[in-house]
Amino acid sequence: MAPRQRENWGTRLGIIFAVAGSAVGLGNFLRFPGQVCQNGGGAFMIPYFISFLLLGIPLCWIEWTMGRYGGRYAHGSLPGIFDAVVQRPWAKYAGVLGLFVPLVIFFYYTYVESWCLAYSVFSLLGSYAQIDKPEQMQAFLSAFQGIGSGGKFTSIGVAYGFFLLTFVANMVVIYVGLARGIELLCKIAIPVLLVAGIVLLLRILTLGTPDPNRIDMNITHAYGFMWNPNFSVLTQPKVWLAAAGQVFFTLSVGLGAIMTYASYLRANDDVALSSTTAAGMNELFEVIIGGSIVIPAAYLFLGPEGTLEAARRGTFDLGFVTMPVVLNKIPFGEIFGFYWFFLLFLAGITSSISLLQPLVSFLEDEFGWDRHKAAIAIGIFCFVISHACIFGLGAGVLDEFDFWGGQLAISICALLEVLIFLRYMGIERGWRELHRGADVQWPAWLRYVFVITAVYLGAIIMYWAAFEWLPWIMKPFGYLVTMGLPPHWRAAPVQPAILWTRAGLLLMLLVLLALVRLAWWRRARRAGGAA
Ligand code: ALA
Repeated sequence: MAPRQRENWGTRLGIIFAVAGSAVGLGNFLRFPGQVCQNGGGAFMIPYFISFLLLGIPLCWIEWTMGRYGGRYAHGSLPGIFDAVVQRPWAKYAGVLGLFVPLVIFFYYTYVESWCLAYSVFSLLGSYAQIDKPEQMQAFLSAFQGIGSGGKFTSIGVAYGFFLLTFVANMVVIYVGLARGIELLCKIAIPVLLVAGIVLLLRILTLGTPDPNRIDMNITHAYGFMWNPNFSVLTQPKVWLAAAGQVFFTLSVGLGAIMTYASYLRANDDVALSSTTAAGMNELFEVIIGGSIVIPAAYLFLGPEGTLEAARRGTFDLGFVTMPVVLNKIPFGEIFGFYWFFLLFLAGITSSISLLQPLVSFLEDEFGWDRHKAAIAIGIFCFVISHACIFGLGAGVLDEFDFWGGQLAISICALLEVLIFLRYMGIERGWRELHRGADVQWPAWLRYVFVITAVYLGAIIMYWAAFEWLPWIMKPFGYLVTMGLPPHWRAAPVQPAILWTRAGLLLMLLVLLALVRLAWWRRARRAGGAA
């Protein structure tokens, strides 16, 4: 079989926007402000920036460098890239995490993205315009999701319709291709996101003191509430873990997606500056825009206790309960509501399409399929599995997907990337590879940062395993574990839906491993035939 001509990015700005699009997502606008609020306000930025510099930037450099390297050998997904770098039979199997993680995240991320699309339409139609209490908005959301009665919806039908629309939109972009699909969408979406973000930001900044009876609830206090540093939290390990987790999530590292995007670069295209620029762009969206909308807006209308309570209840509550209530209270709230949810939808879709690309690339590069065939096969597969998240939401299936894909496997995959980079590419060669064709030369002493990244990441993973993962892993088996010295165990109901979900995820991992085996077996047979 003749070597397949791989696609390339159209422009340098195109790939920077595509990677930034993958990074800028719901994490920037919802997860980040919630984390700041819960973890010491402005003081959170100290561990956050340390994690950004010691974990985030080095992982971006590694992913761009190894991705472009793999592309030279016509590999765009982690099994092939690890195989090219390590040149040992086991490496391709280790790389299967680079297919598993993005797929698992895609299954639930797209569903949440479809809620954003739905809510942008609801805002324009005034569907929740009468609701002014968080509890009523919660009932509206639950009814929409098909897990609660009351509210406007009697079934999950509307949510399912928006899911179909969102799913098809994702598939169309993937089907169309790299330059005309992903690159074009991100080149439009990123500037639109910037403008929509700034418009919302200006609106919040000019809200003044909405309730004349509560002069303490003004915009200055709102920002003070969010950013006033509480330095005492810095002695708590959980704050450092939260910062590391946020950096991971927001930069989309450990997924394989950035590596795949970088594999479509030409051998001498810059990666040193582009990777850093894309990461910096994400920070602009996260710290400046994301950090200035949700929490200050909530503070102005709900006060300090209400805001803290909303942040504690989590990402989805801030976005789909608190924000609609707050936006309902401002003039032209339906227009700003549309802005807000459409902004989230755009941020979401530029992230979710990047989650599919590793598998597309795997089927193209390792099985010789064309993009259209790969996109259709992946579309059918993802469509079927996504139903578990849609209909199992109330039983905790979505959270389970998030735990295994978005927390556990992603960090193990990132650790593997750093270790493989250090051991098989080596610091010196890796540093030279990062600077091949580069538009910037970073100071040479910075190359030792990768060692710090490996140690820092290893320590974090061990801490997570002991204090956060173990209790989660034991939960459906009938135990509630509270970590401490000694850990405390308590009996709880067994959760069969969660056990079935885990069995399904394990099966998926095995199928992906089998596909890797098959791809290399076919390659060996072809090479044998040619010889
Ligand atoms: N990086 C993406 C986000 O922030 C996944 O949502």
